[in-house]
Amino acid sequence: MADAGTQNQKEGDESRLSEAEIAVHWKEEEVYYPNPRFVGQANLTDPNVSDRFSEKNFPECFREYADLLSWDKYWTTTLDTSKAPFWKWFVGGKLNASFNCVDRHLEKYRNKAALIFVSENEEDPPEAVTYQELYIRVNEMAALLRDFCGLKTGDRVTIHMPMVTELPVTMLACARLGVIHSVVFGGFSGEACGARIVDSGSRVLITMDGYYRSGKLLDHKVNADIACRKASEEGTKIEKVLIWKRFRDKSASPTPMVEGRDFIVNDLLKKFRGHLVPPVSMAAEAPLFLMYTSGSTGKPKGCQHSTGGYLAYVTGTSKYIQDIHPTDVYWCMADIGWITGHSYIVYGPLALAATSVIYEGVPTFPDPGRPWRIAEQLGVNIFHTSPTAIRSLRKVGPEEPKKYHYRFKCMTTVGEPIEPEAWRWYYEVVGRGETVVTDTWWQTETGGFLCSTKPALDPMKPGSTGPPMPGIYPVVYDETGKELPPGAGRAGNVCIRNPWPGIFQTIWGDPDRFVRTYYAKYNKDKTSTDWHDWPYFAGDGALWAKDRYMRILGRVDDVINVAGHRLGTKEIESACLTVPEVAEAAVVPIVDAERGRVPEVYIALKPGVKPEGIPEKVTLAVETVIGKIARPRAVRIVPDMPKTRSGKIMRRVLASISNRMDYGDITTLANPEVVEQIRVQVQGAGPVEKKAAPEDIKRFGQDSG
Ligand code: PRX
Repeated sequence: MADAGTQNQKEGDESRLSEAEIAVHWKEEEVYYPNPRFVGQANLTDPNVSDRFSEKNFPECFREYADLLSWDKYWTTTLDTSKAPFWKWFVGGKLNASFNCVDRHLEKYRNKAALIFVSENEEDPPEAVTYQELYIRVNEMAALLRDFCGLKTGDRVTIHMPMVTELPVTMLACARLGVIHSVVFGGFSGEACGARIVDSGSRVLITMDGYYRSGKLLDHKVNADIACRKASEEGTKIEKVLIWKRFRDKSASPTPMVEGRDFIVNDLLKKFRGHLVPPVSMAAEAPLFLMYTSGSTGKPKGCQHSTGGYLAYVTGTSKYIQDIHPTDVYWCMADIGWITGHSYIVYGPLALAATSVIYEGVPTFPDPGRPWRIAEQLGVNIFHTSPTAIRSLRKVGPEEPKKYHYRFKCMTTVGEPIEPEAWRWYYEVVGRGETVVTDTWWQTETGGFLCSTKPALDPMKPGSTGPPMPGIYPVVYDETGKELPPGAGRAGNVCIRNPWPGIFQTIWGDPDRFVRTYYAKYNKDKTSTDWHDWPYFAGDGALWAKDRYMRILGRVDDVINVAGHRLGTKEIESACLTVPEVAEAAVVPIVDAERGRVPEVYIALKPGVKPEGIPEKVTLAVETVIGKIARPRAVRIVPDMPKTRSGKIMRRVLASISNRMDYGDITTLANPEVVEQIRVQVQGAGPVEKKAAPEDIKRFGQDSG
């Protein structure tokens, strides 16, 4: 033990040095240049754009984005910082998001497809919805929400739906009325949906009876019953559940209707046929929607996004980075239930009158040729997906793209760091070595992209997101607040020095947590109304290269990024603790070749409890409380948790063991002997394994920002 201790002490010192080490070993990748055919048609080709958006022109530079929208009333103040850090953009301005995404396109694009729905069942033909049809459907749904549900401006509505056309229709109907939508990812459990209903104070839940996933028809209505029960247990009563039908002629769910509470939307809509609802003229800073995301503490945060600033930012970035023209067929494979879908399936593309594709199912169903067949069939020319999807398509169908005749002009990757190897397959095979790739780094909180290459202007560097977006001024700080400038060769915490229109406004119902989590760390003067004093703390570790390309290393807090989706360890741990036999639970991320990171669970049992069947119970609890997405890779029952003398569980040590990495210094623990027991249990009795640790695993559990 003594030997191991000394060894670990030494390794611990080395691991403290490794931030610098990353830079030393960090191989500069060869860059790739955009092809001239793309450049010739691109929306953003002015090399002076960075100058136009430089600090001397801030904040007025963002007028360019806001001017892409149709305003009922032009704004008077571009940025109001008087209640820092609660920034207000385009103050005095008025507009409606549904008008901007639908009505204003009718004159020119009435009969152009706004959305094309692709069922997972490949025998069903794609269903296009023109802008005219979208207009009618949004109006009728808005009339229903207003007149049947009594919803009005400022009310919140929870939407728990799969990837179907009816989801953007419902969102835009809410936006038309100024009703704040809170879309919960369809794959989240009924309980997770219920918790979000309670937090947002919704009294209407909108759902769908069922949907296809991996070839199975899933009963989704059953989740609405669970959500309502969970909400009512916590004191929030859902008055009406509106259920869209997945099929015109039959029900997709065997779950019975609840009399007086549940209503089939498709039936109700008959009463509203042809009704038109004038779009409510909203203040630019009125909330458009809430999007819940995970943080360091157990409770998900309702990120509140504004109408004017958000819409301006996603429209501008969709135009210049996604390079969307109204003639493009754009397909983002994300789910609308996450921020990527809100910004870059619905609001950004529709504000630009693009055709946006909505695919219901999993990319590899029924085989890994599916995405490329869809692209070929619909003439998709802009493609947007995540490293997880890229890894999995590469693994199961590396040659598939070659079989199909699609042609992408640009492609995006988002949500997690992408390995240069996976990037190169995306570029060479999916993009045929000619498609421009943007790696966009951003977050639920930020509304839109923060770093990315400008597709016609900047070379691509595999594994690095790119330089800051126009008008975004990042800074990388070390823990003490010392700046690590580009080329410093050390990783630190990436922050954004300035506000931008897409930044969220607050955490719904918890402004203190908003300030504490995102601004307190590097703010020096709480009373300041000068934006320079309020750097936004993104919660990611990053290395900023000399050429100003950012390499994102992953989260620095207790958030696990599973397949590009954020899960809080505390959320998963509380789910484990709902199993009565469990005394303590600790969740750690483990590196997964396909999904980036996946959770692994350690539990200690209450005295006298037999371990049989407990791991299964814990897994089920996690799936029930959060959803299948959070399913742990393994549940390990341990005699005790490694703890500090003050009783804090050392998740970092467990993470190292799970990842077969050196666990560093454990001499300060209250029970160091348990570490070796756990190591042997997980890794076997051989010598301590010492793989190099990725940065997020090394830092895991050390900062609770
Ligand atoms: O760690 C970063 C990672 O995903 C986190 C944000 O997750 P979420 O709010 O769910 O939004 C995902 C879609 C924008 C970030 O803090 N992340 C996102 N994009 C990238 C990334 N990591 C590396 N490279 C990216 N391009």
